[in-house]
Amino acid sequence: MTFPDGFLWGASTAAHQIEGGNVNSDWWQREWGHLPGPPVAEPSGDAADGYHRYPEDMALLAQAGLNSYRFSIEWARIEPERGFFSRAALDHYRRMVDTARERDLTPMVTLHHFTHPVWVARAGAWLDDGIVDQFARYVEAALPVLDGVDLVCTINEPNMVSVLADPEVGFPSIGLPPGVPAVTDRLVAAHRRAVEVLRGAGHRAGWSVATQAYQPEPGAEAVAADYGRSREDVFLDAAAGDDWVGVQAYTRTRIGLDGPLPIPDGVERTLTGWEFFPPAVGDGIRNAWRRAGVPVYVTENGIATADDDRRIVYTTGALEAVQDCLREGVDVRGYLHWSALDNYEWGSYRPTFGLIGWDRDTFQRRPKPSLGWLGAVAKANALP
Ligand code: NOJ
Repeated sequence: MTFPDGFLWGASTAAHQIEGGNVNSDWWQREWGHLPGPPVAEPSGDAADGYHRYPEDMALLAQAGLNSYRFSIEWARIEPERGFFSRAALDHYRRMVDTARERDLTPMVTLHHFTHPVWVARAGAWLDDGIVDQFARYVEAALPVLDGVDLVCTINEPNMVSVLADPEVGFPSIGLPPGVPAVTDRLVAAHRRAVEVLRGAGHRAGWSVATQAYQPEPGAEAVAADYGRSREDVFLDAAAGDDWVGVQAYTRTRIGLDGPLPIPDGVERTLTGWEFFPPAVGDGIRNAWRRAGVPVYVTENGIATADDDRRIVYTTGALEAVQDCLREGVDVRGYLHWSALDNYEWGSYRPTFGLIGWDRDTFQRRPKPSLGWLGAVAKANALP
């Protein structure tokens, strides 16, 4: 079975996870102990030096055969102080967009991927009503970067921002009690404002929601449905009027009568400790389609592993699940793998998600066989 014409085949990254030296962001400040929060295993430091090496990275993706690249622009660089918009940072991201297009990579640009400028964090970030206006002003300031970009993602995984943005879990700036409704409301309000601004400038706007497969034990179907609803559905529902919705899925959670269950012994786990479960993405796609009813892009899916063969096995299974959804009539328009590069997994470099590895001392890129494999799938627009 081939994928639909015009299907996007790409890879995704986020600024803080690959750029390096993101010193005006709340994450950087937290990593070095300058903002409160639990300690991280290792700071992001130079990351993959992606800030300087993006032309080479995009060239590798394009040469392999991919036709799309999703990356984020960094609010903390664009507006390092309230009201000061850095022309140099805007120019930098403009060059990234131009470079992607020169390489025939359709860019998908994310405006908010977990990090904030320190001044936003100090003002309370999503605990403060002011963030909705602050975010809208940043989006307006970023429009010149986006000129000619079709797909724009407003906020990456708002459900992770709202639910896991809990100091106990480790998302720093925000220090939120989990699931605080006002936070959800502000995220939805900020998204709506951004969508309005973006549509006015001719972009197709959406956001990317963290989804999972929820596997109920016999009798726990209602518990599993509730669990899923409380974690993702409010954000999928809010995407109903958008131009598209992004699905990000990696694994499943088994649910018993009392809630989530541990992964049973003997079940394969990835380097993040998650269950190896390729079909998860199918559940995420179906739920997003059911709730939002707009074209679906898989904006992240992948596996943290040191064994690149397992990455290919995992991705094959995930793409088979995407094909099942297409056969059922779901309007899936693209698959963007997480991640283009090994990167900073919010506290550690150990979980390696990349199609491309790199030397920690020299930053020299080392494309993995999975990059060539995914590129071949992209060129054939079909699984082998
Ligand atoms: C989702 C997040 O958007 C990304 O930042 C993270 O690295 C991956 N999932 C893997 O955990």
